Amino acid sequence: MTAPLVAFEDAAVTFGKLRALDDVTLHLPRGAITGLVGESGSGKTTLCRTLLGLTPLSSGEVLFDGMPVRTHLARGARAFRRRVQMLLQDAVASLSPRMRIGSALEEPLRIHRLPLEEGRERLIGILRRLGLPEDIRGKYPHQISGGQARRVGVARALLMRPEMIVADEPTAGLDVSVQGELLNLLLDLQRELGLTYLLVSHNLNVVRRITDRTAVMYLGQVVEDAPTRELFHRPAHPYTAALLSTNPAVQAARRRARIVLQGEIPSMLAPPSGCRFHPRCPVAQPNCAIDPPALAEVEPGRSVRCHYPFSLPLPA
Ligand SMILES: Nc1ncnc2c1ncn2[C@@H]1O[C@H](COP(=O)(O)OP(=O)(O)OP(=O)(O)O)[C@@H](O)[C@H]1O
Ligand SMILES: [Mg+2]
Repeated sequence: MTAPLVAFEDAAVTFGKLRALDDVTLHLPRGAITGLVGESGSGKTTLCRTLLGLTPLSSGEVLFDGMPVRTHLARGARAFRRRVQMLLQDAVASLSPRMRIGSALEEPLRIHRLPLEEGRERLIGILRRLGLPEDIRGKYPHQISGGQARRVGVARALLMRPEMIVADEPTAGLDVSVQGELLNLLLDLQRELGLTYLLVSHNLNVVRRITDRTAVMYLGQVVEDAPTRELFHRPAHPYTAALLSTNPAVQAARRRARIVLQGEIPSMLAPPSGCRFHPRCPVAQPNCAIDPPALAEVEPGRSVRCHYPFSLPLPA
């Protein structure tokens, strides 16, 4: 197996007393799409921000191409920022209302001090590739649709010829048909350009359709990380199973018994003892309230943080 492009090694982030990321170990293979799912507040955006170096770690490490992100930033933040591009959740709000789209698109060229002429030519090619009319450059953000604004965001990212795209809920707030178009576009680009993606989404159907691997987060921890097909076919962590069973389409396809998540998400400020999921877990045993399970590789390429994972071969 080739070395992953990104490796989170026991990465932790604390905001005051709140531990938003708790010893996350997760590898993102090169050229693959990794999906990140989990309830609101589980730490998905925080994880993305640490990869871009926007949120500092309190311990552990995030390696990009074998080198800590903080070393990349220290050696040349601008060069690193070109290699990893983030698609913002609110594409329209991230465009300045009084700046024409063309200027917004050229902004990164100026910031990164790239030749404007060459950049403009590349931009025209990218706009065409993304199905955006050339005259969009003369428009203002309020004159374009939500779907177009997302594409403008993608165009801006591609202009830098990144190796990796971090997309935090890239389709949130879009009509279903526009969502589908944007996802297909991202998928095509990934195949054409060999990009590596980290894709955060609440939409499990999206994750199932386009990702190669899926990581599931719960209260700041990765609780399962597996090939997407395997994970959806036979979730090993009870939380993964519960999350999948809340999705009608996934459930219908699999005819899985619905596991109802009991209780509220506990506070991140006072996470439960032992396994953080135990108060809501349908199969918890007494030791789950005491011993925190470690993230363990239960079969090649699949890690689970649970004392009693589902439907896996028994250890020899
Ligand atoms: N800058 C910050 N200061 C203090 N707390 C923060 C900060 N950023 C995030 N948090 C807290 O960290 C936890 C994880 O937040 P995060 O935004 O990473 O979750 P998320 O999984 O992206 O949620 P959502 O699905 O709603 O986007 C939350 O409890 C959040 O309130
Ligand atoms: Mg978020």
